[in-house]
Amino acid sequence: MTIMVTGGAGFIGTNLIITWLAQGGEPVVTLDKLTYAGNSLNLNLLPKDRHTLIVGDIGDRELVRKILTDYKPRAILNLAAETHVDRSIDGPGTFIETNVVGTFNLLEEVRRHYGALEINDAENFRFLHVSTDEVYGSLGPQDPPFTEKTAFAPNSPYSASKAASDHLVRAYHISYGLPTLTTNCSNNYGPYQFPEKLIPLMILNGLTEKPLPVYGDGQQIRDWLFVTDHARAIIEVLNKGRVGETYNIGGGAEKSNLEVIRSICTLLDQRKPIGRPHADLIEHIRDRPGHDRRYAIDSTKLSSEIGFNPQMDFETGLSTTVNWYLDNPSWVESVQSGAYRQWLDHHYGKAPLNGQEIDSLKS
Ligand code: NAD
Ligand code: TYD
Repeated sequence: MTIMVTGGAGFIGTNLIITWLAQGGEPVVTLDKLTYAGNSLNLNLLPKDRHTLIVGDIGDRELVRKILTDYKPRAILNLAAETHVDRSIDGPGTFIETNVVGTFNLLEEVRRHYGALEINDAENFRFLHVSTDEVYGSLGPQDPPFTEKTAFAPNSPYSASKAASDHLVRAYHISYGLPTLTTNCSNNYGPYQFPEKLIPLMILNGLTEKPLPVYGDGQQIRDWLFVTDHARAIIEVLNKGRVGETYNIGGGAEKSNLEVIRSICTLLDQRKPIGRPHADLIEHIRDRPGHDRRYAIDSTKLSSEIGFNPQMDFETGLSTTVNWYLDNPSWVESVQSGAYRQWLDHHYGKAPLNGQEIDSLKS
């Protein structure tokens, strides 16, 4: 028995595979294109008899067909995606290619494979699609959190492409009977996250005394989920989830971006003092277009049906994350390629807001 993980060399995929194998799960075959966000080093230490990495695209139907024929996975966990909202605004094409067309091609091959399975194998087979709370759009301060019944209202090319993939997965269950499960989780944080995302970006900029770029007023709210809790939740949904259903996964830790950044600054002040508070490095910059104000997740279905609740509190999780980035400078070095530095120059190279513009954010 094998399971197949797409996007396994990325942040959540890596943590999921490590957690899966540590729990004694079957061998894993990973399909990953190794885009800028994928890092084969993450998976190098895994035992060779329990993990195989195949470099390729979820949209490559011949390759997917060959993997399904060769490995006969009893489950496919689809995590492969383009994932950074700012990049999706800068250039949405690859998001449509991978998240929409890639998912479609993968589903087509999985449908073909599923249709040829023996009855027992078909009964046990699952396709689990990992998605995001961003498909639900943006909440006001007093709105109730997203449930699985909240209507989709994506606001960025990233979230629109993920919403499209969620719809395809749903349709393949309804139209073809594919045994699917979908999870929509909140913002993850923890080890192995590519440093373009908020928390690792702030840790690494703080360490090197670079500005800490806050979009707009920094009062946008995210619900933070420690990545190992997310990995455990995915495994629980795979084992216990009802076929065709969607499960929201939240961290129960709603924080504004400024709160998160200030907490990182306090941790860095303790661990890597620079003679002044790291918070002095905070710089407000132009807001992200269409920036969602608040995400919040209602995980009642996950906890009542599956019995899953996150274990990590935000303070411990953040401290663990800061320590991991401090303790792994060679990993950090390995992911900061020339292309990544170019992205930073391109995206953050514009002039910071002037005093008047910052005052207008506060009013
Ligand atoms: P990531 O960007 O760190 O990793 C994505 C991985 O997918 C990389 O290894 C990349 O090489 C691979 N990939 C990209 N295009 C591919 C393709 N066409 N074929 C095969 N592999 C491809 O992303 P992540 O944070 O680990 O996210 C994993 C999944 O979880 C995504 O589907 C994302 O939408 C979802 N998600 C992430 C978060 C979060 O906070 N990180 C929150 C909610 C949902
Ligand atoms: P991000 O990590 O990109 O995740 P997402 O957009 O999927 O929620 O961003 C988290 C929040 O942090 C979001 O509100 C945007 C904000 N942010 C900044 O203020 N500055 C930054 O440099 C980045 C990358 C994000």
